[in-house]
Amino acid sequence: MRETRVFQVDPQHPDPAPIRYAATVLQAGGLVAFPTETVYGLGANALDARAVAGIFAAKERPFYDPLIVHLADVTGLAQVTQSLPPLALELAAHFWPGPLTLVLPKAPQVPTEITADSATMTVRVPAHPVALALIAAAQTPIAAPSANRFGRISPTHAQHVFTDLAGRIDVILDGGPTRVGVESTVLSLLTSPPTILRPGGISREALAQFLGVAPLLAASASVSTALPSPGTTLQHYAPRARVFLYCGPRPVMLAAMHAEAVRLTAPGVRVGLLTAIEDVPALADLSAVIQPVGSEDALDEVARHLFAGLHALDQAGVAVILARDFGTAGLGLAIRDRLTRAAAGRVIDLEMQKDPEE
Ligand code: TXA
Ligand code: MG
Repeated sequence: MRETRVFQVDPQHPDPAPIRYAATVLQAGGLVAFPTETVYGLGANALDARAVAGIFAAKERPFYDPLIVHLADVTGLAQVTQSLPPLALELAAHFWPGPLTLVLPKAPQVPTEITADSATMTVRVPAHPVALALIAAAQTPIAAPSANRFGRISPTHAQHVFTDLAGRIDVILDGGPTRVGVESTVLSLLTSPPTILRPGGISREALAQFLGVAPLLAASASVSTALPSPGTTLQHYAPRARVFLYCGPRPVMLAAMHAEAVRLTAPGVRVGLLTAIEDVPALADLSAVIQPVGSEDALDEVARHLFAGLHALDQAGVAVILARDFGTAGLGLAIRDRLTRAAAGRVIDLEMQKDPEE
């Protein structure tokens, strides 16, 4: 067991003292959880193979699942990649700091532990003052997966990190809840046009507009079980409860969720419903735990509260979670991806059924 020290830090203007302390821990090969704009990351010095191995041990993460390297700014790219495609710099200039991760050829000094022996690696510059201050103070790129045990829900609050990893890591910098709430978009520049390996905080539409062509979408970004990005296994982001994802026209979706909740709660099964705020009146008569995560007209809000909503339902001790889909526009694609994985493929597709109100 390690002692895990938790420091409160102002997310906008982090106090230099805990940042300096966390940076010395990183330089000594330790593990520091820190907020990014997407989710909390579990950081180690990216150029220290032993420190990086510590991440895998703490998370119980299989070694075939490579890590993202976090940089303080675009100039750090030279340290970790080689033969940069010109498009990488254009994307970086436009989207960094921000939730876009680029798959690029790796430089020889990057430990193979990070890249799972692949010739490619992933990098991003996070848009969070605490993350940027930490990378700058540590004076090294930081390898960081999401700060959760492998296969569990990603943390958007420091408390989630503490629950999952206390006793296994050295420091948690608590900068409050994260803003985006879903992880970065992983974009491979090894294809033309580039391929989205994992939908995330930067939408497919925003990338299409910048690229002038729609990026390809890897099969795992839908309901398929293909695995183009090594870490995108279907059983991922899993709460303890069994999750079922409902897709289709809103009234059909809600009616099916309502009927299933009635069927399950009758013999006493504890049921949680992950919904939009607008859905609450239609479900309020149920004896189920209703967890609205935001308005269906504000998907940034839904993304921000998505993982905390799943965590809260787990905490409430429900055995089954019925979650609704939010479509595929904008952040909807990343939301569907995470919910599909949380549901381990248990997706109830009502897309073809007619809306009874039409
Ligand atoms: O928002 C985020 O990206 C967060 C914060 C902490 O930055 N990080 C994160 O890391 O989500 P992680 O390790 O949970 O997810 C990294 C994803 C995995 O799906 C992994 O398979 C993929 O990036 N990846 C990493 N290196 C890769 C590579 N060389 N080729 C293809 N995919 C790669
Ligand atoms: Mg993760």
